[in-house]
Amino acid sequence: MDREKVTIICRCNDVTLEDILKAIESGIDDFELLRKKLKIGFGPCQGRGCLVIAARLFARKTGRNLGEIISNYTFRPPLVPIPVKYFTRGGEK
Ligand code: FES
Repeated sequence: MDREKVTIICRCNDVTLEDILKAIESGIDDFELLRKKLKIGFGPCQGRGCLVIAARLFARKTGRNLGEIISNYTFRPPLVPIPVKYFTRGGEK
């Protein structure tokens, strides 16, 4: 694969646009199955960097409703990693 022409969708797990398109073309018609097969959203950012992009792509290619796909997922706070020490008394500065 020519790395210069690759579009990375999930940076944490190195999932490319081509990986997703091939999986959809192979017959995967369920977003959760696609996610599990390619490990989209299973990286350290827990999908903050890729889940919506992958869902949009899936919706466009399969004709599904993006809102219905996204509504199955819970986006949990905090939105940025916070060291545990800030939740304890010892973390006060
Ligand atoms: S970019 Fe996909 S899990 Fe982080």
